[in-house]
Amino acid sequence: MIPDSPSAETTIQERQPLRVCVLGATGLVGRAMVRLLEERQFPVAELVPLASAKPRTDHLTFRGESIPVRPVRAEEFAGADLVLSSAGGDRSREWLPVAVEAGAVCIDNTSAFRMDPEVPLIVPEVNGDLLDSISFGQGRIIANPNCSTIQLVVALEPLRRAFGLERVLVSTYQSISGAGRGAVERFTQTTRELLEGGARAADAPPAFDVLPLIGDTEEGGPTTEERKMLEETPKILREPVPMDVTCVRVPVFTGHAEAVSVQTKFPVRWQEALQVLSKAPGIQVHPGTIPPTPAQVAGDGLVHVGRVRPSQALEHGLQFWVVADNLLKGAAWNAVQIAEQLVASQRCSPVGA
Ligand SMILES: NC(=O)c1ccc[n+]([C@@H]2O[C@H](COP(=O)([O-])OP(=O)(O)OC[C@H]3O[C@@H](n4cnc5c(N)ncnc54)[C@H](OP(=O)(O)O)[C@@H]3O)[C@@H](O)[C@H]2O)c1
Repeated sequence: MIPDSPSAETTIQERQPLRVCVLGATGLVGRAMVRLLEERQFPVAELVPLASAKPRTDHLTFRGESIPVRPVRAEEFAGADLVLSSAGGDRSREWLPVAVEAGAVCIDNTSAFRMDPEVPLIVPEVNGDLLDSISFGQGRIIANPNCSTIQLVVALEPLRRAFGLERVLVSTYQSISGAGRGAVERFTQTTRELLEGGARAADAPPAFDVLPLIGDTEEGGPTTEERKMLEETPKILREPVPMDVTCVRVPVFTGHAEAVSVQTKFPVRWQEALQVLSKAPGIQVHPGTIPPTPAQVAGDGLVHVGRVRPSQALEHGLQFWVVADNLLKGAAWNAVQIAEQLVASQRCSPVGA
């Protein structure tokens, strides 16, 4: 279920249609973004699917029309109102300045610009107000946070507002699709080979295993994935938050889960926390004893919270379990949600309109 955008004053379909480029349109996130643009009836005048420069004959279907995927080139961004980007950080660094120069608003799923002080890092349910100063035609980059950060801050923000946050301890259980199309293919192949009695290669994805190492690390330090959560969370919450993070890749196709402990500034009973979370935007709370799982929430745009309970170790402490579809709320839906909020704002004035 994709929830309605909170700020939509009139329906999104009634707005001026835009020229929309999707960079990385053939990837897991890119395909999900194209699907959402169609499902949400986003006002698209022209969809331009862009991918790598290899010779290509592939097409994407959008609103029943077969559209050729084009190799990315500077000319493609001329006249673009909106660029949705998910082709890796290097491609964002190369192409988004070109799109900005052409006047496009770019919503970037990569880590390239997230910690740039000039670039807002947005989760609409948490800090969507920062979009108020942005309008189409301005030439701006807006960053989508890391997938694990997004679902964490959606759950943390209502608790922060109600009880204050002293510290956060989190372990993630991240699915294979978080590493892209190639990783899913290698994982599927490895799983098959192991089931058939084959030997495990040293660099094999974690089929029948779990791997507490996502990205690079140096001995005694966090991994790059953990560093993203450590840096992005305070930027989005707009206050420093002491955190311990361990990111773990697990043999699940889609959906990230997180075991979270928080120490709040003020005393909190778990029943009150459950109440606060159940009223917060973008969250589905699972009361009772049956927790949400990644497989159950795949295909769903909400952040699911279950197993809310008191901490046994922290004063004013809570523990809970957070699950979301990493390709949707963790990437494509958060990006399209930002785009919807921009379109819904009265400053929407597409290039050439
Ligand atoms: N997967 C997730 O859950 C998730 C969540 C949040 C953020 N992200 C971020 O989103 C980005 C994409 O992730 P993904 O999972 O969709 O990856 P993916 O499935 O591997 O897709 C990568 C996309 O990038 C394109 N690409 C590769 N090299 C290119 C180049 N030189 N020029 C232009 N396009 C190029 C690919 O096109 P070809 O068809 O030409 O190869 C494909 O469309 C990554 O930066 C990732 O960190 C992913």
